[in-house]
Amino acid sequence: MAESRSSAAPDRKAELRHEHLLDLSTYAADELRHLLDTAQEFRAVLDRPIRQVPTLQGTSVASLFFEPSTRTKLSFSLAAGRLSAETVSLSKSGSSVTKGETLKDTARNVEAMKVDVVILRHSSPGAPHFLARCTDSVIINAGDGAHAHPTQALLDLLTMRAHVDTFEDLQVSIIGDITHSRVARSNVQALTTLGADVTLCGPATMLPVEMEAAMDARTTTRLDAALEGCDIAMALRIQMERQDEGLFPSTREYHQQYGITPDHLRRHPDLLIMHPGPVNRGIELADEVVDHDRAIILSQVTNGVALRMAVLYLMAPQRDDG
Ligand code: CP
Repeated sequence: MAESRSSAAPDRKAELRHEHLLDLSTYAADELRHLLDTAQEFRAVLDRPIRQVPTLQGTSVASLFFEPSTRTKLSFSLAAGRLSAETVSLSKSGSSVTKGETLKDTARNVEAMKVDVVILRHSSPGAPHFLARCTDSVIINAGDGAHAHPTQALLDLLTMRAHVDTFEDLQVSIIGDITHSRVARSNVQALTTLGADVTLCGPATMLPVEMEAAMDARTTTRLDAALEGCDIAMALRIQMERQDEGLFPSTREYHQQYGITPDHLRRHPDLLIMHPGPVNRGIELADEVVDHDRAIILSQVTNGVALRMAVLYLMAPQRDDG
């Protein structure tokens, strides 16, 4: 069955049953499709000469980024601006967290300034869930430790959907540091809910075997096996900051065993390449692969703005006074 691509105006907030976007584990297929359909409509807005709509006028959005980010932070900021929402942002180093203020107190003070939506990136898994329990704001998870990165997975699916008719039986391989990857976890949840077959591939030290049973994904330590019959290969960033843990002998050896090269593209002529960024060129992807026509990495970034517009639009509280 082809995935639906409705062209109706996005006025269907009620179809999303979740109040917060914390992870995708409890999102049903119809909710995921609704998010993607709405994002598709906002994607068209990005190609207009004037890329702003008044949809969220009067809504206040706070971004709390307690870990570094380029794509997620900027695209949430652009998404909120293109919906005409008011935005404020805070980084860990520039906030009173450096003076010992807790996350809960930070969020409650932000809320006291009448903020409607809080976007949180945090190194602790579960930090957004904690905020959802102790504040009344809508909480959107922009990445929490190794746990979840739901908007990344949704933008990945939006990007895939531009190239395939259906997720049913789509073969997606996710390659790299699976253990530490919130991107992998959220992608497996969303893709398997929509019927895709997912293979997780990486060195044994980065590949929790329990994910095979827990997340309904095949696992392999062999890149050739992961690419055989694969439609889309998603390479993950090797987290250099974890090199001390001795998870792989060297970046050169990692590239030899798990790096995707022009030779892989020649052997798999229909294979598409994705990467959530930031890319370590020459490690998880050869330079030529990053810049290849079949690498759809920058489409992922563009779609990130549209997808985050959809998330903000669907989840921001309805304002009757504006
Ligand atoms: N993909 C991603 O989360 O990138 P940033 O860390 O730059 O936001």
